Parts: sequence; structure tokens; C-alpha cells
Amino acid sequence: MIKKCLFPVAGYGTRFLPATKSMPKEMLPIVNKPLIQYGAEEANDAGITDMAFVTGRGKRAIPDHFDFSYELETEISGTGKEKQLEEIRNLVNNCTFTYTRQKQMKGLGHAVLTGETLIGDQPFGVILADDLCLAEGKSVMAQMVELYDQHRCSIVAIQEVPMEETSKYGVISGDALSDDLFRVHDMVEKPDPKDAPSNLAVIGRYILTPDIFDILRNTQPGKGGEIQLTDAIMEQARNGGVMAYKFKGRRFDCGSIDGFVEATNFVYENVYKR
Ligand code: G1P
Repeated sequence: MIKKCLFPVAGYGTRFLPATKSMPKEMLPIVNKPLIQYGAEEANDAGITDMAFVTGRGKRAIPDHFDFSYELETEISGTGKEKQLEEIRNLVNNCTFTYTRQKQMKGLGHAVLTGETLIGDQPFGVILADDLCLAEGKSVMAQMVELYDQHRCSIVAIQEVPMEETSKYGVISGDALSDDLFRVHDMVEKPDPKDAPSNLAVIGRYILTPDIFDILRNTQPGKGGEIQLTDAIMEQARNGGVMAYKFKGRRFDCGSIDGFVEATNFVYENVYKR
């Protein structure tokens, strides 16, 4: 049912300067794999084969990564190094990759709206690659696609965070339908702890129904003067149906140096060395 996943990747990654001066932040590796590849593998684990990227200037390394590299293939063909390319080859062979550019940085909502041309009129996943989500069984996006098949509405991934950190996230409140599923009533972008409706923070995984595009077209700039995806999803919640899902897995904030180092150590010990 969900065939496409949108990756907003136009951001500058200023927190990682100078590393990101000429390299997209999404190409930063966690051990030996770029963040964006983790994201694409997660989507592919959910049965998604159309990967759509909202890119910007200086992001050419991303389309190059998701392409056949003739020289490299010829060079390593038949050597022990081929194994290291196995996962990216599978992605490149099994998926399509499309790109459009966000010409101005006007927020996550604006980035998603820019992706409309790649998505069209169908429900789709959204992955923010700097939230690295690792799960033992099904990927987080696969868990959400399963839920979508049951509920047919927009779904946001959530996680409990310390109350003093609410100002880093979209924060929801809602009715608990089960231990891990809520019907969203309220959703606020980066509230101060005193104004936060709960400590349930939105993590960079979404499934969105395509009416989001019309809503985004009419969404006024919100927090920070940016067009906020949170505000548009809140509009969907007002009209009836948005679910919030406490996913099974671990999330690392690889948009921060601390989270990035934590993810690196975790993947080194638990994935790479195994
Ligand atoms: C974005 C969203 C926010 C969400 C977060 C998850 O913020 O605007 O609602 O909680 O991603 O990582 P950003 O981190 O891009 O500032």
C-alpha cells in the first residue's frame, strides 16, 4: 500500500561544520554506512521501493550514492570487498530514486510540500535521516506501515522524552487506545516544558495521507517563522484522524554530536562487530 518514502535532505547540517562544509550531513557515516542509507534500508524493509528526496545545493553525493558505480564495480568485482557493497547494491537494484530541490529553506512543512511532485496523490512515508532508528525485528517504518494498513490515517512516531527536552520536538497529547497507540488531540512544535501537552515527542518518522499537501499549501509560518509540518498534521488531527505510535526500537539523535557519537558506539558494538 505505501510505496513511496520522502526524505527531506536539504538542511545544512551546521552543527557538524566543518565536516558538512562540502558534504551532505546525511552522508556522515555511522561506522561505515551513511545515515541516509540506514534510512533507505529502513524504508525498503517496509516494502517501500520508491525513494523520493527533497535535496538542495551541495547534496550531489546523495544521488551518486544511490547509483551504480561502474568503475568501483569493475575494480572490486571478484574480490573480498564485494561484500561491503552488498546492501547498497540491493537498494540500487530494487528501488527507484527521484529528486527535487527545495530552493529556499522555509521549514520541514515546506520541504514536504516541495516533495509533492515526487509523491503525487497517495499516502507516503517520511524519514528524517538524522533520527537513526534501529529495531531488532521489523524496522520502525515497517511497524508504521502495518499500522497504516489497519487505520488508514496519518501516523507519527513518538517517544517519551525528559520534560525539560520538549522544546527540541513536536509534542503530542491524545487518548491512549493501547499501550503504544494514541489518537492525537493536540500537537505543538517545540513547546517550552511549561506549555508542553505531554512528554510524548515526535521522532522523524511519519506516514502521511496526501491531503497533507493541500493543508501545507495553506499553512502559515509557525514556530521560528517556518512552515511547520507539525501544524499541518495538527490540522489533520482536528479533522478526525491522526495516530501517534510508540515504536519498538532505539532512536539516536544523529543531528547532534552527542547522539551521533552514541549511535556510532552502539552500531560498532552491536552491529559492526557481530
Ligand atoms: C523536526 C520536527 C519536530 C520533530 C523532529 C524530530 O524538528 O519539526 O516536530 O519532533 O524533527 O527529529 P527538527 O529536529 O528538524 O528541528
